[in-house]
Amino acid sequence: MLSIKAHKSAFIDIINSMCGIFGFVSKNNIKAVPIILDGLKRLEYRGYDSAGIAATTVRGVFSRKKSGRILELEKILNKNVESSSAIGHTRWATHGAPTDKNSHPHSSCDKKIYLAHNGIIENFRDLKDKLIRNNHKFSSDTDTEVVAHLVEDFMNDKATSFEEAVRLSLKSIVGTYAFTIIYADHPGKIIVARNSSPLLIGLGDEIKFVASDASAILPHTRNVVYLEDGEFAILTKNDFRIANLDRKAIERSHEKIEWSPDAVKKNNFPHFMLKEIYEEPEAVENAIRGRLVIRDGLAKLGGLETVEKDLRNINRLIITACGTAYLAGQIGEYMIEESGGISAEIEYASELRYKKNSLNAKTALLAISQSGETADTLGALKEIKRKGILTLGVVNVIGSSIARETQAGVYNHAGPEIGVASTKAFVSQLTVMALITLFLGRQRGMSLIAGRKIAEELQALPEKMKKVLTRAGDIKKIAKRYHKFNNFLFLGRKYNYPVALEGALKLKEISYIHAEGYGAGEMKHGPIAMISKDFPSIFIAPSDSMYEKTVNNIQEIKARNGPVIAVATEGNKEISKLVDDVIYIPKTIEMLTPILSVMPLHLFAYYVGVFRGHDVDKPRNLAKSVTVE
Ligand code: F6R
Repeated sequence: MLSIKAHKSAFIDIINSMCGIFGFVSKNNIKAVPIILDGLKRLEYRGYDSAGIAATTVRGVFSRKKSGRILELEKILNKNVESSSAIGHTRWATHGAPTDKNSHPHSSCDKKIYLAHNGIIENFRDLKDKLIRNNHKFSSDTDTEVVAHLVEDFMNDKATSFEEAVRLSLKSIVGTYAFTIIYADHPGKIIVARNSSPLLIGLGDEIKFVASDASAILPHTRNVVYLEDGEFAILTKNDFRIANLDRKAIERSHEKIEWSPDAVKKNNFPHFMLKEIYEEPEAVENAIRGRLVIRDGLAKLGGLETVEKDLRNINRLIITACGTAYLAGQIGEYMIEESGGISAEIEYASELRYKKNSLNAKTALLAISQSGETADTLGALKEIKRKGILTLGVVNVIGSSIARETQAGVYNHAGPEIGVASTKAFVSQLTVMALITLFLGRQRGMSLIAGRKIAEELQALPEKMKKVLTRAGDIKKIAKRYHKFNNFLFLGRKYNYPVALEGALKLKEISYIHAEGYGAGEMKHGPIAMISKDFPSIFIAPSDSMYEKTVNNIQEIKARNGPVIAVATEGNKEISKLVDDVIYIPKTIEMLTPILSVMPLHLFAYYVGVFRGHDVDKPRNLAKSVTVE
């Protein structure tokens, strides 16, 4: 999509794992530990089961690894280690428990080759058996370790260089990977390789970096080179060379990342999650910037221009995504069905592939993903694309796999999202869905007046969102009163039904409280049985076409002594007489209400998580980019 070149990789119907990889090559020996730790901390949101480091030094390779957070690793590190090539890894465990021995980097028997890996080596058992027969001794339960021994095995044939041994090893592997590899006898050199796991090279003046994503590189440089699938690169003190696995040299110029280095800092916020909630108005501003022609009631989406004609011909849009992005897609489904003039349906990416969809030339697929790396979404996208269907993307991370795989799309421009629970990306996704609705609608029957109204209301949103943020103090007080409850029900209708699901998802993730989201109308068909004075409900009840019916549902809960918090439209005094607590949001048109109504729910989840003493930026068992299926 957009300026990113078509992605050439073959369809790989397998999984890769999350984890964060970071490394550097420097012209001179420098203190490696602080640089690697800083890079790893910026990638920690990708996984935080264990971490490790390896650095070439004058006395061979220095390596330490530790289960637990990066802070645990930091405690056992000598900060004065000098090196000209070092790698680090933060792990989200797949093969092998999150123990010290299973942490990366892994090494060869002679402790000369060290590598960190993101991905899964599918044929590792076969390789391991062969290597054991060749007397290799393994010290972990991971799939990754086989590759360190494999490189060593090839190098045992003295005629094979380090580079060639890595290339031959990569050719022997079936699976997905991003690798960083160092060799004790070649200080000042890193070999990196990519297949279905993201990896980019950052070009500084004195130092070159490698990382799983740009957030770790941004403090050092904004000039990056993306590695493509099936490529490896050799980084030395003086240059870098990219080649494919058949040794064909590849020329690639660098791209400039537009994200500012400040975007990956907490600034004065205690957590990234809170910072990112406060960035929600800006995320909407960035999503609409230059994309609204108010006078003509149009959305100008450069990324869709190349397929504008194809879009005129479609009459059905399948939207697919996971988690919070799925919920944005669900609201998008309501928007497009109601105002976009075509039929829309949402499908979990993790299910879409297994359905027999009757697709035809008038169908298009839209994948939504903040990270652009979610394996389920990528897998669904590749499967549908293989059937010849037009594929579109709504993606935040530029150059990510989903951005490359889709034929056209719209970038969110929400900036990096570091908090594991998605917040600002969600409102940005909703904004882009509204823009796409306007774009499609105006290609079809939507009137100029209706188009203008949507455009004007979109333009007015950021100021209204800032107003919601001024109520954070009140929301914090409400969260304090309710944070000890162990169950919550979130209820809403139509556009605010997926908002209820998002409120429940966020509370579950951050506070580990059991929370369920339901369509308010469905509540009486079962969940109402749970209601008691110990089971609060949060109603999203703006003054829209669903209001009267929602109020009936509130009455039903109150009649059973259930505590109720309502998110309601400013000026609605009546509701405060009905419920225990109200959080007011400004008025907007119905289809844009979720962008305002979700903000109190994000803040509520955040404060409840904080009051319960959790690490809200890194909730247990979760990782930011879910690149396993
Ligand atoms: C929830 C959350 C996840 C993601 C989901 C999809 O707070 O963050 O549910 O929304 O894993 O991720 P992306 O958007 O990167 O594809």
